[in-house]
Amino acid sequence: MSKAASAAVSEARQWARLMEMAALGAIGGGHPDDRGVNRPCLSALDRQARRLLIGWAQAIGCSVSVDPAANLFIRREGSDPTLAPVLTGSHMDSQPQGGRFDGIWGVVAGLEALEALHDAGVATRRPVELVAWTNEEGGRFRPGCTGSMSWAGHTPPAAFAEILDPDGIRYGDALAEQLRLEADLPRRPLGAAAGFPRPHAFVEAHIEQGPLLEAEGMDIGVVSGIQGSRWFTVTLAGESAHAGTAPLRGRRDAVQDMVRAVTALNALTADPTDTLRFTVGRVEVAPNTSNSVANRVSFTIDLRHPDAATLRAKGDAIEATIRQAVTTCEVSLVENFHAMPVSFDPMVTDAVAQAVAAEGLRHRPIPSGAFHDAQFVVPVAPTGMIFVPSRRGISHNPAEYSSPAQLAAGARVLVRTLLALAA
Ligand code: HGY
Ligand code: MN
Ligand code: MN
Repeated sequence: MSKAASAAVSEARQWARLMEMAALGAIGGGHPDDRGVNRPCLSALDRQARRLLIGWAQAIGCSVSVDPAANLFIRREGSDPTLAPVLTGSHMDSQPQGGRFDGIWGVVAGLEALEALHDAGVATRRPVELVAWTNEEGGRFRPGCTGSMSWAGHTPPAAFAEILDPDGIRYGDALAEQLRLEADLPRRPLGAAAGFPRPHAFVEAHIEQGPLLEAEGMDIGVVSGIQGSRWFTVTLAGESAHAGTAPLRGRRDAVQDMVRAVTALNALTADPTDTLRFTVGRVEVAPNTSNSVANRVSFTIDLRHPDAATLRAKGDAIEATIRQAVTTCEVSLVENFHAMPVSFDPMVTDAVAQAVAAEGLRHRPIPSGAFHDAQFVVPVAPTGMIFVPSRRGISHNPAEYSSPAQLAAGARVLVRTLLALAA
């Protein structure tokens, strides 16, 4: 059965679907292999992509449903519908300057696996479900993973309602609009809802987004776990003044104080082993004119580490470090994402490793530097991930690339893994 299902995976069909998805929010010109996507969550482009996926899924007899967090589920029945399903999936939203594979490949690969089972006439005992999680990236609404965190009961959905996107749209309103525009689709409760069947297992296929697999000539990464991530937003409030007349002494310059804060944070997070990740990726300055002293700066902190104690210690020291470094502005800080490191379940990582061996592919265990929705599924069900190589380790960049053959190998490993877990 497993061999037949693997043989039914179509490299061409999967690649064609990925390129159809890549056209929804395509950015950049030049060579097609350097074009990316900007497909924000809860947008018209997102809804177009979801309708495309739904059409493909309904064509092979799958049912579709949406939960209150707008997570989209596609279900292929098993011979025993009372059994908890095996779940696979990832996200369809992209970074603003995203690539054509981050997230969306895991969803298209999940569909490819369902279609391969269908084409090979393979029945599974357990139902197999494919999920597209809402807002994994946090590119439009910070933080990311709001769909999977709501589904897993990690954070109540209402906690995200007041988050604003760059245009001042509330997450709660964007979510309500998505649910209204998809009112024709059947509904299902949130996964964490009382009495709702937890998945038997969850497997997420994703591009590596790093350089290891390519550098070592590996086809597949059997993901061992995901490092922890903590996100903060820091706001400095000073006083605007004339760039020409205001003496430097006495200025309350929010940009200068941001420089002092980031310099101090660089010292706090310095790591000779280059394991810790510290990024200030977004800075908003007001009034943002060249001849006015900035009276307000808001900047983000993305802190990551595979060791929980280190992540806790460094993250907990951030506020005091900033307050000590800043000399003229008021400081406010909020932590808006807190995902501790997770290890995946041997039941799933073993199934992935056996699937890789059956395919005769070169593989290695690999930790994930990027967070994924899988991080929040870990407390709910045995979870694992499958990585395929990324060209030069590039991601969150239009030049992100994995080849049709690499992605097809990933889909073959996925369908074998799902079959092993669902049979
Ligand atoms: O930021 C991350 O780790 C994920 O790729 N969104
Ligand atoms: Mn991703
Ligand atoms: Mn990403």
